[in-house]
Amino acid sequence: MAYSEKVMDHFANPRNVGEIENADGIGEVGNSKCGDIMKMYIKVENSVITDVKFKTFGCGAAIATSSMATEMIKGKSINDALKLTNKAVMEALDGLPPVKVHCSVLAEQAIKAAISDYYKKQGIDPEPIVGVIPECDHCH
Ligand code: FES
Repeated sequence: MAYSEKVMDHFANPRNVGEIENADGIGEVGNSKCGDIMKMYIKVENSVITDVKFKTFGCGAAIATSSMATEMIKGKSINDALKLTNKAVMEALDGLPPVKVHCSVLAEQAIKAAISDYYKKQGIDPEPIVGVIPECDHCH
């Protein structure tokens, strides 16, 4: 299975890894089949995501896509972050092997889950829909 250089770079040197103390929103999504878990923390000021950190317990593609996704939403408005698709993250990484496409969905869902948590804490209704995490058949 061939990974692009960008995937290898984000896997070897993931950006924005860690936790945010007193995060405004925390989202955790997981895949029950492979057990991969992604946790995303966001800091929000005036509807802009000023900081984002993640922890991914999962495969290399999941780590690389989380890393790229955090870079793509940092400094962006919540509305823009909600529009980020796993496809856009994959394109930014110059693609993923077909069996690893589902891994990139975790990053998109984790962002939506973190924003959903933020909405809940702020009492904003309705919360964004996190959606269904696809089953993962090709893990590890
Ligand atoms: Fe990558 Fe399951 S999320 S193998």
